[in-house]
Amino acid sequence: MKQILMIEVSPRGKDSASRAVADTLAARLTALHSSAKLVRRDLAAEHLPHLDEITLPAISTKNPAEAERLKDAARQSDKLTDELLESDLLVIATPMWNFGIPSALKAWIDLVVRPGRTFQYSDGGVLGLAKGKKAILVLASGGVFTEGPWRSWDFVEPYIRQILGFIGIVDVQTVRAEGMNIPLLAANAVRKANNAVLELAL
Ligand SMILES: Cc1cc2nc3c(=O)[nH]c(=O)nc-3n(C[C@H](O)[C@H](O)[C@H](O)COP(=O)(O)O)c2cc1C
Repeated sequence: MKQILMIEVSPRGKDSASRAVADTLAARLTALHSSAKLVRRDLAAEHLPHLDEITLPAISTKNPAEAERLKDAARQSDKLTDELLESDLLVIATPMWNFGIPSALKAWIDLVVRPGRTFQYSDGGVLGLAKGKKAILVLASGGVFTEGPWRSWDFVEPYIRQILGFIGIVDVQTVRAEGMNIPLLAANAVRKANNAVLELAL
């Protein structure tokens, strides 16, 4: 393992359940893979831009002259995409917001899911170019989504698994701190998730 990329999303700092569990995971990964570089990218501190009329063509043009002309606008996406492609393990630690992912994480996804870099269309299908990597999702939510009536409201795990699969990352494990808005569950949710980190195949 050469590099581990950890994407952290919650702006709640020390109060964040997903960050607390990500810290436990980071400690375990560092102990197990002491020579690997751990890159922690904090999307609450670094405000990634949405794709606009310049960055969108800059990261998707197939015309080399156009790509050269727009290369400055592609620089941030280039950096994030290289960072992902250079990593063997991707960790995404995120809250559920309004039943989906926070827009900060969507902005990162929009910058790294790139034709010709992380996927390409081929013979009517799609080829994921980030294949061979593993991913771990650390998900925090106010409610419970692994069972019960709210299960079908989870647009976090199914979406992240789908988009990672699209770029070729299919070995995905999940750890959840759920029920953070339900006092009886919240009291133990992070401890249970930290225990689940010990069960992960790393
Ligand atoms: C803006 C916002 C939207 C939220 N939406 C949901 C939601 O749709 N479903 C849910 O179960 N919890 C929701 N929550 C609760 C968070 O998922 C919960 O507090 C979780 O612990 C946040 O992760 P963090 O502790 O890492 O910040 C929301 C919280 C915020 C601040």
